[in-house]
Parts: sequence; C-alpha cells; structure tokens
Amino acid sequence: MKRIYLLFLTLTTAVVAIAQQSFLIDNRVAVFYPANYDAAQHQPSPIFLRELAPISQNLPDDWQLRPRFTKENGHSVATFEVGDADLYGCGEVYGDLKRNGETVGLWNKDNGLYMTEGGKRLYQSHPWVLGVRKNGTAFGLIADNTWKSKLTTDHQVRFDSEGPAFRVVVIERNSPVEVLQELAKLSGTIEMPPLWSLGFHQCRHSYVPDTWAMQIADTFRDKQIPCDVIWMDIIYMDGFRIFTFSPKEMPNPKAFNDYLHSKKFKSVFMIDPGVKVDPNYFVDQQGMANDYYVKTKDGKPFVGQVWPGDTHFPDFTRPEVRRWWSTLYPDFMATGIDGIWNDMNEPAVFDGPDSSMPEDNVHLGGEGLAEGPHLRYHNVYGYNMVKATREGMLLANPQKRPFVLSRSNFLGGQRYAATWTGDNASTWEHMKASIPMTLNMGLTGQPFNGPDIGGFARDCNGELLAHWTAIGVYFPFVRNHCSLEEVQQEPWAFGQQVEDVCRTAINRRYRLLPYVYTLFRETSQTGIPVMRPVFMADVNDETLRSEQQAFLLGGDLLIVPRWAEKPALPKGNWATFSMENGDDGYQARLALRPGSVLPLANLYQNTVDYCTDSLTLVVNLDEKGLAQGRLYEDDGDGFNYRSGDYSDYQLKANTDGKTLTVSLQKIDGKRKASNKRWLRIAQIVKGRLVYSNWQEGNQAVVKLRKK
Ligand code: GLC
Repeated sequence: MKRIYLLFLTLTTAVVAIAQQSFLIDNRVAVFYPANYDAAQHQPSPIFLRELAPISQNLPDDWQLRPRFTKENGHSVATFEVGDADLYGCGEVYGDLKRNGETVGLWNKDNGLYMTEGGKRLYQSHPWVLGVRKNGTAFGLIADNTWKSKLTTDHQVRFDSEGPAFRVVVIERNSPVEVLQELAKLSGTIEMPPLWSLGFHQCRHSYVPDTWAMQIADTFRDKQIPCDVIWMDIIYMDGFRIFTFSPKEMPNPKAFNDYLHSKKFKSVFMIDPGVKVDPNYFVDQQGMANDYYVKTKDGKPFVGQVWPGDTHFPDFTRPEVRRWWSTLYPDFMATGIDGIWNDMNEPAVFDGPDSSMPEDNVHLGGEGLAEGPHLRYHNVYGYNMVKATREGMLLANPQKRPFVLSRSNFLGGQRYAATWTGDNASTWEHMKASIPMTLNMGLTGQPFNGPDIGGFARDCNGELLAHWTAIGVYFPFVRNHCSLEEVQQEPWAFGQQVEDVCRTAINRRYRLLPYVYTLFRETSQTGIPVMRPVFMADVNDETLRSEQQAFLLGGDLLIVPRWAEKPALPKGNWATFSMENGDDGYQARLALRPGSVLPLANLYQNTVDYCTDSLTLVVNLDEKGLAQGRLYEDDGDGFNYRSGDYSDYQLKANTDGKTLTVSLQKIDGKRKASNKRWLRIAQIVKGRLVYSNWQEGNQAVVKLRKK
C-alpha cells in the first residue's frame, strides 16, 4: 500500500502544501515524490546511473528525514529539518568547508574571480548536501532537479526551484564515507584516469606561437622539474574556430605534438562549445545544414557573443548532436592531442542575460528527454557537452582512457570529466579557499578536481606561487594556469628560491604517485574522495569538523600547510616527517597515520618513465606494532585493467621489538610483475626518513629504530 502523507497545509496564501509518496530504493535510501510530480519534466535524470526502482513501498517506522514539499510564490520547494547537523558538499562553492548558514545558487555561472554573489554560484551545480550529525552518523540529500534553483543550508535545508515539482532522495548511513559510497552507487564514480593526468600540468592563456610552448617544455626538462602535460588555450585556434589550428600560432600541430611526445610530455587542447557563425567554416556548415543549434523561442538558431564574435551553440540535449560532436574529435586528435579541455560551457555568453543565454531558449531533447526551455537545461549544458566529448575521445582513441577537463558540470558529471574551479585570482584568500573548495567537491562525488595553482587573474608573485605550489601538489588535479595579460608564473618565473620550492613540492607529488594512483583506483570503485577533510580521520572528534587549512590525502597522509594557524589535527601518534633533509620553510608538513605503510616511487621527471620496480615503504607502526597499506598497479592507460590486468597489493609491516619487517602481498589481479621488485623501508626518526638498504624481493627487514 502506498503511503500518502499530507504533511503541510496552507500557511500563507503563497505557500501551498503538497502531498507526497515515498519508496525505499536501497537499504536506508528513500525517494520522495511530491503528488504533482511530472516525470517528463525531470527524467531521464542526469544524476542517476539508472532509473530509481522501489525495493519497498514502506519506509522503516523510525525514518526521520522527510521533505516538506510546498509551492511558494510559484516556486517548487522541498524543505528538510536537519537540526544541528554539520553540512558539507553543495558542489563548487567559494567559502568555508562547513556549509551551514549559506545560500548556494544552482545556476551555472561564468563567475570570473568569483565576484558575483560572493562566489556562492559558480560554474557547476550540484543539488546535493552531505550532513554529519554530532554522533558521527550521516545523511545525504539529492534534489533530482536540473531547473534553475537555490539551495539554502541551515537548520533547514531548502531546495527552491523555478521549475516544476521535483523528487528528492535521502540517504541514511552510519558515517559520511558510507554516504559518499551510496552516492557513488546511485550516481556513478569517475573512470580510472590515465596516469599522466595525475602528474604536474603547466598551462597559460596562451603559449603561442607553439614554439613558446616547446620552450616551456624544454625548460621543465632542463631544470629537472617534473611535468607531464603542456596545455594549449584558445589562441592556438584559427580565429577561435573550434577544431581548427591557427596557421600562424600552431602551423603544424602534428609536429608540435610529436615534439612534446619526444620529450615525454602530453598535450591537452581547449575546445569551447560555441561554433563561430561562418558559412565558410566546416563545423558551422554542418551545424547549420543539420539544424543542430539551440533555438530561440521563435525557432531560430540562437546567436550570442563569445570569443569568436557571433556564435552558435550545439544543442547537446539531442542525441544526434552529441553523436555529431563526438565525430569531430577523431581528425582533430589524430594530430597527436592527448587530452581535451572543455571551457565556457555554462554556457558563457558575453552579451546574454546573466552572462548566458535567454531562459526561454529551446532545447529539443530526445531519447526520452522532453523538449524544454533553457531554464531546465542550462545546468546540464556542460554535462551533456562533456558526455559527448568523452565519446569523441573514445572514437578517436578506443584504446586510451579519455582525459576531459570541464569548467561546467552537474551532479553525475564525474562520470565524464574532471574539473577545475574556474577563474580564481592570484590572492592569498583564493589560495586558502582552494582547499575547502576542492574538499567540498570531493564531498559531492567529484573527486578529480583542483584550482588554477598560482591563480588565474591578476599577477601572481613568488611568495604566493611558492606557497600555492607547496599545497597544490597534494590536490587531485595539479595545474598551474594563468590569464593572458598576467606575468608569467611557471615554477621558475620568480627566481631561484621560488623555483627550488616548486621543484621540491613537485618532486614530492611524483614520489607520492604510487599512493595517489592507488587512491584514484579506490575512488573510481567506491566514490571515497582522494582529498579528504581532516574530520574524516575521526568523525567522532567534533573539534575537527571545521578544519579547512589542513587536509588529508587519502586516509593515511595528513597535509598541514606551512601558513596554517592552529589547525585542528586528529589525535593519536601521527608521525610528522619531511621528505627532504633540509627545510625551505614552504613545504607542507606531512604526517603519517599510525598503523600505515606509505609507498613512494623513486623520482622520475614524468610518468612515461615512472616505474614501481623500486619502492620505498614509509612505516608508522601502531601501538600493537603493526601497519598496513595498499598499492594498485596497472598499465597506467588503456582498459586492460578491466579484464583483470592489474595488481592490487597489501603492504604489511610488523615488528618483534627488534626488527621491522615489511612485505608486499598480492591480493587481487592477474597482472604479471615484469621485473624483480626492490624494496627499502623508511622509518620516521625525529621527523626524518631513515632508509634501509635496498632489498630484492617482496619483503624487507631492518633493525627497528626508536621514533
Ligand atoms: C576562460 C577559462 C580560462 C581560459 C580562458 C581563455 O576564462 O576559464 O581558464 O584561460 O577562458 O580560454
């Protein structure tokens, strides 16, 4: 029997109560429908992997979190009473880690320097809240709604939408990690990225002509600063025409990419959604001939101003348009391009209302998706674009893992693209804020993201770059990028001292890659973020709930920025250590969780050379004298891992009081080890790593040192 609740009667003339229905869709996961729910206005949902199917019509009797559905001044509203829970997530937002007492705009916005609405409405929308109660139990709230909305987070969580009534999903779990795992089960995880995308990236708007980009690549190698990727921003294009190359700035893209590859770099090129209005340009010819563009309410192709001047916008809600878009990639990528950067896909329109297109523009939909106004489809414009881009990359290179970076996206879009947090500024405030922003994206099911390191707008300076690089290397995505007119901000741009600080920080990233790659494997399977708030180390320690200077990389490594003031840190014998002998005063302090084994690689300048035949295992025993870790390995690219060509190892340490033994045991996967393994143990003694000799095989033994 369906249970109907009449929860709320008319309070004021403007507020109308709405009945609801609820179902259980998984153990302690419920979906609530307002009585006037019209599936055609919301489904198929971009958020969920599959349509929600009831497993039971009855919610448990003790079920607490129920929405109140109302109609208020023409808006559809769902309200939850969440008491004094700490709130997180909410997607890409500027501000504190803890989201209590905020209003977030869910209407994607090209928000340069985060100036509009205090950065509470940025390039992506994620109708999602993670709540953590005082006792450590947690809940997740999803509004399955793409229409223009606002999210208010306080003792009440309110999703307030300008669209028709929408359904909401409530996840109840014992911990925030379990909530994120359930979100991943419903909404999917990231795909395993190529290993190279986890290295260091160097970008600028723009390194043109191409010879400048080649010099940048050479300088990394000459100066022995590890780097994997050089990025090409829009000026490489011929007059901002996407899928073309400027004869002046990028005369021979194949030769350019070959050059980068010969130096063991990858290239990522930008593609914006807007197509220059130009009857002599093949992309616009195809778009016009097939009527592929978003329309005005009068049925004409909408034209707005973006970089190329007059611009058309593909209607990515249409399956045939997404297919067409994907077919544009193979020729483009045949020049040797490795990754794609999709920008301006909110979509940004310079002369449009609220810097986008009119809300009554029309998207045609298809394959079950109804025709609808921009008011409904704006927030998923970038999402649908990157979905098609990813398909295009697979068409171009079926054997390679696509790497797409997107500025705009929506909840669920983690399946298609990584994220950077748009046009920040070269300021201390934005550097500090990049930590809670990246953390909250991870708490929103979007683990692969990071800011422009050094800041995009305004001139960076040496001190800021040194500090930002010193923390940025622990972010999931590590890219230095800046705007057109700004001073150069490559690691060497501010003299020897800053260069040395950046090199040391980037060296740390590369030595940590075995651990980082293992974390990406974990998040691709479970949705547990790569970069985590400190409170995840001990969810019952309420003093950690607001910590947003220090953070965790995975479960085992605590990162404390040098500028952190009185950070709240987890209790227990976390062992602080440095990876170098000297101290430059900038590198983050690292601390290893008691009971953990951290795998480090030797230092390589790029992931082409990366190899784990020789591993250093840093150990911090717990009070029982034991420690554990994990190590995941595969080809670093391609899809063989899906058919078992990987190795998952358990790292185990124990002591008899005199010696310390560390071993590496394969627990899963069919991958053959190519060579003999060499291990050395690193013990943490007075904050320094004390290494054993290299020992051949899967076990190493050393005399136990006092801490
Ligand atoms: C946008 C992007 C920025 C890029 C610029 C030029 O502002 O956010 O990263 O450099 O466009 O393409």
